[in-house]
Amino acid sequence: SEKEYTEFKGEQYFKDDYTNVTPTILGKIGENLHNVPSHPLCLLKERIHACLEGFTHYDSFSPVVKVRDNFDRLLIEPDHPGRSKSDSFFFNRQHMLRTHTTTHELDVYEHRNIDKFTITADVYRRDEIDSSHYPVFHQMECVHLLDRSEIAKNAAHATHHPSKTPAGLVVSDPTSELSKLSESNPIQSEHSIEEVEIVAYQLKATLNHILYQLFAESAGSGDSTLEIRWIEAFFPFTSPSWEVEIFYQGAWLEVLGCGILKQKILDQAGRSNSMGWACGLGLERLAMVLHKIPDIRLFWSKDARFLDQFQASDKTLAIFRPFSKFPPCTRDIAFWCSSLEFEANDLFDLVRDIAGDFVESVSLIDSFVHPKSGRKSMCYRIVYRSMDRYVFPTKRHRSFILPRYSFNIISK
Ligand code: PHE
Repeated sequence: SEKEYTEFKGEQYFKDDYTNVTPTILGKIGENLHNVPSHPLCLLKERIHACLEGFTHYDSFSPVVKVRDNFDRLLIEPDHPGRSKSDSFFFNRQHMLRTHTTTHELDVYEHRNIDKFTITADVYRRDEIDSSHYPVFHQMECVHLLDRSEIAKNAAHATHHPSKTPAGLVVSDPTSELSKLSESNPIQSEHSIEEVEIVAYQLKATLNHILYQLFAESAGSGDSTLEIRWIEAFFPFTSPSWEVEIFYQGAWLEVLGCGILKQKILDQAGRSNSMGWACGLGLERLAMVLHKIPDIRLFWSKDARFLDQFQASDKTLAIFRPFSKFPPCTRDIAFWCSSLEFEANDLFDLVRDIAGDFVESVSLIDSFVHPKSGRKSMCYRIVYRSMDRYVFPTKRHRSFILPRYSFNIISK
């Protein structure tokens, strides 16, 4: 019979109406790809660390956090979509898998006397299935707190240098003038415009520097430009807030969110003498752009043909060489929904549970409500493809192997 609690690392989490963690998702915990030597995510972590002087780096916080610390204490509204069962993984109403590294800023504020730090960790979200989404991914939080009395002294010298951009990096920043901040992206009432100018300048200069450094290492790839843009954003725990997007594979890809930390959060965590900025970098997205890795599932591959392409000793960033010979295989699936409130993320988790990393994408291609019965029907297209599996021919299939061509036959 089903247990009435989920056991994880010796703790028991009693199930309730919020419980939705699956064995598949729990099985991913502990892989800690960001700490695996020579894994591209670990190498990226180390490259970013090298850009940040004087920062303390954390990378082993537990992924199980209090719902309160993931949301409430970061001033995330009660009706924020991330709080719903359809978007996040819950053990129960009190405990969940962290959805972002921002939650651990609180640990550092309260328990460590540190002003400049990074936190790298695996984070968990229920989402669609395609080449840039996976229910587990990795973020690096960077935080810099400044002494408010020091900032005030410097305030008189606040200037807006256009950030120096190296050839090959195209940075567009229409948000660079604070006067242009919209009402939806205001400075906080606790802060003066001069303070915000200084802190925001540091934030943008630091992040542009990191992106430039990372890109400079990939310059050897023959690709001559990297286009990034700053756009205004909204996060409950920062204001003003921004996002940086990189132009990749024909579209703008969000790689980080950032902003000036809400003073209320710092005050409540006993850091009222400080003011600061924070950002959360999406490591997979950045690594995909830097190494031209086409699919996020590859990071989970144990195949030497993937892992051996990345070495700590690499002077320039390796450009990923595809090795899977497998063609995609497409199947459409149509079904009637038992109610009109169908959650697509429930289907996506089900598909992941069954097909694992063979599933490349799931997309809605048709839906229909029967005019008489009112019942709803959906049709999804599932694309399967192995990123790395190499199937040795069985005896039965050996005869199909010609000297120059191999057929990818998986016997069922
Ligand atoms: N936590 C945010 C996210 O996961 C990113 C972020 C971090 C934004 C820090 C602002 C400051 O999307």
